[in-house]
Amino acid sequence: FSLKNYNTFGIEAKAKQFVAVHSIAELTTILVQNKSDSKFILGGGSNMLLTKDIEALVIHIDLKGKKIVSENEDYVWVESQAGENWHEFVLWTIDQNFGGLENMSLIPGNVGTTPVQNIGAYGTEMKDTFVSCEALTTINQELKIFTKEECRFGYRESIFKNEVKDQYIITSVVFKLTKRNHNINTSYGDITNELSKNNITNPSLKEVSDAVIAIRQSKLPDPKELGNSGSFFKNPILLKSDFEKIHQQFPEMKYYDISETEVKVPAGWLIEQAGFKGKRFGDAGIHKNQALVLVNYGKATGLEILNVSKNIQETIFKTFGIYIEAEVNII
Ligand code: EPU
Repeated sequence: FSLKNYNTFGIEAKAKQFVAVHSIAELTTILVQNKSDSKFILGGGSNMLLTKDIEALVIHIDLKGKKIVSENEDYVWVESQAGENWHEFVLWTIDQNFGGLENMSLIPGNVGTTPVQNIGAYGTEMKDTFVSCEALTTINQELKIFTKEECRFGYRESIFKNEVKDQYIITSVVFKLTKRNHNINTSYGDITNELSKNNITNPSLKEVSDAVIAIRQSKLPDPKELGNSGSFFKNPILLKSDFEKIHQQFPEMKYYDISETEVKVPAGWLIEQAGFKGKRFGDAGIHKNQALVLVNYGKATGLEILNVSKNIQETIFKTFGIYIEAEVNII
């Protein structure tokens, strides 16, 4: 079974077997029936690089549905099933004037994978509105609720990438959104610029979302046209003491303070300075408008993209003494 249409990189890799599940009952049955076989859980396929065929039963989580579970005058709690497309879910909340997700418009992927790496963009992270998620254990099919604290969210991190990796399948997520007094966050430079370009001073949720969509469309390739997985690397976080030494050598290096002791360096800047932006190696390349994004021009294999990423990592390390870690899950 070809997985080409199930990964946003558009890599041609095969699954030994493939099944899409549309309910928790169906998922449970499949897990019980295939107890002794190896399994691979697939959500939106937007954050992975397939470097080989998958010798396992691929289970595609296609649980659909979204609803309001509770509300008061100020807040609404909405629940989305894991297989809902993230951006469509965001637009559905904005249509009803529910605030909190607008800065994360147009992020590819499905709702069920958003907690795994605590997706974020333009000054907002998923954890800011996340309440809880429900997940099924892969071994004995028990449902468990994870609260926000239990998820241990960090920058592109959660318990699902670490302590309980591969042990749970997220089936639904609950978010707490505002019904009035929205916390409109336009602090990110790109948003400020986009809004002022359109003479908007007091933006609505929809206007913030539209601004984010415009920014993303101008910088980030659409996976339907050019295979990619968003940012391929994480922005490295350095101890201030280490950073200061590097900064003396490269005074023009961009950085953001993130705590008393740490700074974050934009990996896109490092990659661009190292000369990789817009470069192409066969069908694998580095996007021309955003150096943090690796792209598949058509027929690249996962290994070719992986090799480009290693080349970038090594060059950045040799040039700046900084190690940049992949954000994408390499399979
Ligand atoms: N930069 C360059 N050259 C580039 C790209 C970036 O010099 O080619 C420098 C510039 O100084 C720019 C800075 O990096 O000001 C930041 O760039 P940008 O605003 O595009 O954000 P980013 O740090 O590269 C992060 C997220 C994105 C998210 C944006 C906006 C990570 C790994 N990536 O990228 O998330 O959309 O911020 O909030 O944190 C994703 O995770 O897939 C993703 C797209």
